[in-house]
Amino acid sequence: MNIQWRRFILQMAVFIFLCFSACQGNRDHPRHAGNAPADSGSANTHMHGSDFETLARNFEDPGREKWQKPAEVLALLGDLSGKTVADIGAGTGYFSFPLAEKAKKVIAVDIDRRFLEYIEQKNRRLATPLPIETRLATESDPRLQPGEANIAILVNTYHHIENRPEYFSGVRQMLAEGGAVVIVDFFKKELPVGPPTRLKLDPETVAGELKRAGFREIRIDREILEYQYIIIAR
Ligand SMILES: C[S@@+](CC[C@H](N)C(=O)[O-])C[C@H]1O[C@@H](n2cnc3c(N)ncnc32)[C@H](O)[C@@H]1O
Repeated sequence: MNIQWRRFILQMAVFIFLCFSACQGNRDHPRHAGNAPADSGSANTHMHGSDFETLARNFEDPGREKWQKPAEVLALLGDLSGKTVADIGAGTGYFSFPLAEKAKKVIAVDIDRRFLEYIEQKNRRLATPLPIETRLATESDPRLQPGEANIAILVNTYHHIENRPEYFSGVRQMLAEGGAVVIVDFFKKELPVGPPTRLKLDPETVAGELKRAGFREIRIDREILEYQYIIIAR
């Protein structure tokens, strides 16, 4: 074998090794596939390993409907007419838009202004814009007024929040009489979608944190969605 062949084979081996390593790095989180190391930092740090366009495309992926089943999640919320729903961590509004077709008003809350602008632009493009108000929050405060929402829903966002008992004790004050908080998040195990397992929370942990936040009636559904649980707390 001459020297050029040896060099070629060595280059190919290095190339295959690099491709394999890159695939392993993103294996845990195809929806947020990007350049963040799979085992570093918080959920927000991990998510921002992908650029905004990639995140928006992934959140809006038409294939998501198969496992996210938005219509079935909405059906659990009951009659929304006359109600105000806060979609905390609204992202591109994957849930805000279908919610706004049924509710009196949706407050799309996010800490990232780019997502709120995305929602505003998408809403303006509709023939009849939906009743969606965007609200810029901070990491520790969703900036809702006391009693402002009948329902606060967090889809794939609970695990992004820090100091959760304190945060949700605040959310409880922002609910109207008889209001509920609804959490949809990933089971804590290896799944083909969602963040790395270390960032996921099991439903018992979430229920315990919500109890510490002052919620008394907590219902956990583990059947409707294949990869996620749904918690309704009052
Ligand atoms: C994984 S995305 C989910 C987006 C949307 N709910 C969906 O299901 O497509 C998480 C969202 O939560 C937002 N977020 C992260 N931390 C937050 C916080 N403390 N308060 C409000 N939003 C937050 C992020 O900017 C992002 O839009």
